[in-house]
Order: sequence, then structure tokens, then C-alpha cells
Amino acid sequence: MRHEPLHPETVAVVAGRPARTPGAPLNAPLVPASTYHHGGDPVYGRDGNPGWAAFEDALGELEGGSCVAFGSGLAASGAILDELAAGARVVAQRAPYFGVAEQLRERAARGQIQLEALAELTPAALEAGVEGAKLVWVESPTNPMLDVVDLPAVIDVARAAGALVVVDNTFATPLGQSPLAAGADVVMHSATKLIGGHSDLLLGAAVTRDASLDQRLRDRRGSTGATPGVLEAYLALRGLRTLPARLGRAQGSACELVGRLEAHPRIARVRYPGTGTMVSFETTGTAEEAEAACEACRLIVHATSLGGVETSLERRARYASEREVGTPPTLIRLSVGLEHVDDLWADLAQALR
Ligand SMILES: Cc1ncc(COP(=O)(O)O)c(C=O)c1O
Repeated sequence: MRHEPLHPETVAVVAGRPARTPGAPLNAPLVPASTYHHGGDPVYGRDGNPGWAAFEDALGELEGGSCVAFGSGLAASGAILDELAAGARVVAQRAPYFGVAEQLRERAARGQIQLEALAELTPAALEAGVEGAKLVWVESPTNPMLDVVDLPAVIDVARAAGALVVVDNTFATPLGQSPLAAGADVVMHSATKLIGGHSDLLLGAAVTRDASLDQRLRDRRGSTGATPGVLEAYLALRGLRTLPARLGRAQGSACELVGRLEAHPRIARVRYPGTGTMVSFETTGTAEEAEAACEACRLIVHATSLGGVETSLERRARYASEREVGTPPTLIRLSVGLEHVDDLWADLAQALR
């Protein structure tokens, strides 16, 4: 059921619920099942699950398309990239999330795709490099540099060239931006992050308005076994219900922390797109000192990943040798959660001392 006239905050609460039936539960139940009685649909556990469908209804409605859930964000991005015919030209940013960058590089190294990686994905840079491209991969804001792409303009350029446009909307969430409404073909999510919101699951999603692409992605999920866990889908939907509330609160704290970080003598630069829960900052001094500051946090969790109720941080260049290329050595990515902002600041300030 579509709830178009409702606000996204309301859609997050009401979408994906079973029909109102006296005596039946409000929430879509958790249905562990590897097989189903013959004569209906689904037939086998890889084909579908009522819990996946509930999550898909809700996220699809928020993004304005039809959603296919996957076992992780990278399972979703891999399934989207598997759309490409051999030798297809792909344009992407040089530094999207490193897992996606690896999927692109690995395909290019095997000669499966021709990859054009742009230092900056501006409409002008894309205009110059888009000819013949079959797919343009966009991430905005980017992880971890928080670069922001002019989505409507970039989507227009890509579409005019006949390329499929994919937008990784993990950092902005459907509350922050609506790529499908701006003309993108596919929205991709790591629902592991803000949508799940509690650092207790892995889940991914692809959302599109193209019915045949939706069906191909659904079929590919089954044929590759990139299926979500039943518990994960249940928890992700539960997380989605509170996404607007969590986002609003964490965003307020993020803005406050940005101001305090900018005024701190040990901070060389703060990156913040002006909205959202992610802040990246560079410290003065060495990479070792930045790492020590992360380790010195007592309340803020020193761990990878992001988007949970707990505030966490990590010096991203700790992965530089293997994977994360071009990240400043002292850049610390901070994921702001729901603790009181003064407690967060007290912890950061003592860690930076
Ligand atoms: C922007 C972005 N896209 C995709 C992914 C991959 O998602 P997952 O970890 O759920 O596979 C991540 C994970 O950090 C991410 O931050």
C-alpha cells in the first residue's frame, strides 16, 4: 500500500505493516523458512520471505520505488554492477566507499568493465568523460571525505548520455535526499548503517522505478544467493521506524560538535556537508597522535562502521596501505549517535588533549 500524501516521518512508522486484521499482530512477524508448501509463491527460501517484503515495502515507499533487499550493501552493489555487459564503460568517483571501489577495480582489472574514475564528480567533469558510458556510479556524501555531488545536475548529464545512474544513498538516507525523484535509475543502500541504526546487522538494498530492472535484481539475488537474513530484515525494519527521530537528534548534535571542533586548537580541518550525522575532521600533528586520540575515547566507541545509536569514530587512513586511497593520514570519521552532546564533547575534548 502506498502512502504518498504522508510525510516521510509518518511513512517510516506506517509502511510495510500487515493489513489491519482484528486479533492479528501489528508488526510483520519474523518467519524463519527455507521452504514453503507447493502451490504458491514463494517456493524456496531464496525466492522470498514475508519479512523481507515488509522491509522492502517500507524502504521502497520512502525512496519512491520498488525495493529489493540484499544480504549486505556490497551484495546490493555487486548485483547492480552485474547488470553490465562485458566491456561496458563505467564512470565513477575516484574515492567512493572502498568496498564499492574494490568491486569496480576488480571488474576493471579482469577486463569486465572499462572504468573511468573521476577525481571530482562535477557536472562539467562528467560531461567531459561520460560519452559511451553505460553506468554512472554516484555516492553523495562520500565515505569518508563527505564530498557532496550536485545530484540533479550530474543525473541530468548522465541520463542525457544514455547511462544508467546509480546513487549510493547510505549517508544521506531517504530522509536527506531522493535520488529517484531527481531522475536516478537505482538507489543503493547499506542498510547496515543508519537504517538499521543499532550496529547489530548487515543488510543492503536496491530501489528502482524500472519494473524489469527490479525483476532482474530480484532474480539475481536468488541466483547468487545474496539473500538477507530473516532476523536482519526484521531488525532493519524496526530500525527504519525510528530513522527520522534518530536522524533529527543526531544531526543536531553533529552540527553542535562541528562548531566546537572548528574552534579547537588541535583540529586542522572539519568536513561536514551541513546536514547528516557524519563529520570528518583532521587533527594537527601526526597520524599516530590521531590514532591515539581515537584510542583515548572512553564514551565514544573506537570501531569501524557508522550510523548506530552509539557515537563511534575511526582514523580511516589506518586502512590506506590496503584499500582506502587518498584519505588524509589524520582524518577521523565521526558517526554521531544519540548520547547527550555535552557528554560527547567532554569525551572528544579529553581525547584530543
Ligand atoms: C557508503 C557505503 N556504501 C556501501 C557500503 C557497504 O555496505 P555493507 O557494509 O552493508 O556491505 C558501506 C559500508 O560501510 C558504505 O559506507
